[in-house]
Amino acid sequence: MTVQTFIPNAVKAASENTVTQPTHTTDVSIKKLYIETQGCQMNEYDSHRMADLLGDSHGYVLTDNPNDADILLMNTCSIREKAQEKVFSGLGRWRKLKEQNPDLVIGVGGCVASQEGDNIQKRAPYVDMVFGPQTLHRLPQMLDQHQAQVEKPKKEKIKLVDISFPDIEKFDFLPEPRVEGFKAFVSIMEGCSKYCSFCVVPYTRGEEVSRPLDDVLAEIAGLAEKGVREISLLGQNVNGYRGETFEGEICTFPELLRLVAEIPGIGRLRYTTSHPLEFSDDLIQCYRDLPQMVSHLHLPVQSGSNDVLQAMKRNHTIDVYIDKIAKLRKVRPDMHLSSDFIIGFPGETDEHFAETLQFIKDLDFDHSYSFVYSKRPGTPASDLPDSTPEQVKKDRLAQVQQVIKQSSIDKTDAMLGKIERVLIEKVSDKDPNVLVGTADNTRLVTFIGDATWVGRFAEIEITEIKTLNLVYGELLNLEPDVA
Ligand code: SAH
Ligand code: F3S
Repeated sequence: MTVQTFIPNAVKAASENTVTQPTHTTDVSIKKLYIETQGCQMNEYDSHRMADLLGDSHGYVLTDNPNDADILLMNTCSIREKAQEKVFSGLGRWRKLKEQNPDLVIGVGGCVASQEGDNIQKRAPYVDMVFGPQTLHRLPQMLDQHQAQVEKPKKEKIKLVDISFPDIEKFDFLPEPRVEGFKAFVSIMEGCSKYCSFCVVPYTRGEEVSRPLDDVLAEIAGLAEKGVREISLLGQNVNGYRGETFEGEICTFPELLRLVAEIPGIGRLRYTTSHPLEFSDDLIQCYRDLPQMVSHLHLPVQSGSNDVLQAMKRNHTIDVYIDKIAKLRKVRPDMHLSSDFIIGFPGETDEHFAETLQFIKDLDFDHSYSFVYSKRPGTPASDLPDSTPEQVKKDRLAQVQQVIKQSSIDKTDAMLGKIERVLIEKVSDKDPNVLVGTADNTRLVTFIGDATWVGRFAEIEITEIKTLNLVYGELLNLEPDVA
């Protein structure tokens, strides 16, 4: 599992690639799998599931070296054009590896695979398998099919492309997630039905489908038994969760949160991402009632201008967002709030941009993510006239990022003298007497303590601000283990 470095990875810029970390061996007789993951936390989650799946079915072990691998998988992202471009340049590098080792198997999954389908193999004929976010559980069968036709002449081979959206069967075929450390992600739903005018997700990952309630609860209870203390519920639009219960009724997202909070061992709850429209009073009450819910919320708003929001088809106004945050801060005054912003949406004027800048200052956001609008083929916004010069968009982005950065520096500085609840995650690599944990707002907190405390929660008084993402503190109280 990649270490969280600041804000939830779900909103991490798609330019960051991650290699799914090996668990690991150097034995040459063992078959090795290398996975490159682009994009969001959903993709990271999926990559871990692919590794578990091929480990269980075919005995593959992860490697962090593509030169060493028997299979290379690329889990792709198409949220912005730049991410999509990376796919073919990355595949170009892998082609050379295949020239040296013709037995090497190359697979492409994720959102670019979903969008491009068999075009991937037209442009890159050395790709053996193409699968989508909802068909990754069929990888073992695809691999068998591939192996079965390796010796056949080219014209007899069938193309291995499966980018369909078979409801939500994938979870029925995935093995139990392996646990590393005290934090785990649990996918509760797939896809998105919001159809924001700029976004490819509903087309690449399909419409919203929720996992049944019992599956989610059983997975979390299993993780808690294995020592997990912090759960991040994952989905593109988690507050749209409508999971079927055993009795055939529908469980909403706030109801789910209440049930998860009752599972012994779960001391902290996060989720990402949610949509302002379905940020209900019921959900706000969860922040009042459930101490496990972190005082940190990533609630993307995209723009501070009503005109732009309307053109984006976000279906709410700025006032709706402001009111919801005000209600939330009433029950949780220490709430850290972050967002995503798209700058330079078609038709965004200087005035619209000024509104966004002012909005960011007024709402007192912690760190947020901001991107220049990227035209995505097939989305409604791609047909909108767009006369703003690229340089103007870049200048606006730089201004926004300056304000956002200052805001997160201020938020870290404001931690001085405060008491933070910290999940103790490990002993420092540099000093065996120092422990490292994370605060609700995802900052790393270090303090002097005992190695046996790892995995527990503690109240820490912050005594020094080291960097934007690192603070020092002193132990005030060590909570008993929540299990
Ligand atoms: N489910 C989330 C968004 C997922 S996509 C939500 O509720 O908003 C992650 C982020 O990528 C979005 O919040 C948006 O800021 C950005 N994004 C999506 N499409 C984009 C595009 N065409 N151009 C630039 N940024 C985009
Ligand atoms: Fe995309 Fe909007 Fe859904 S940003 S993921 S269509 S909420």
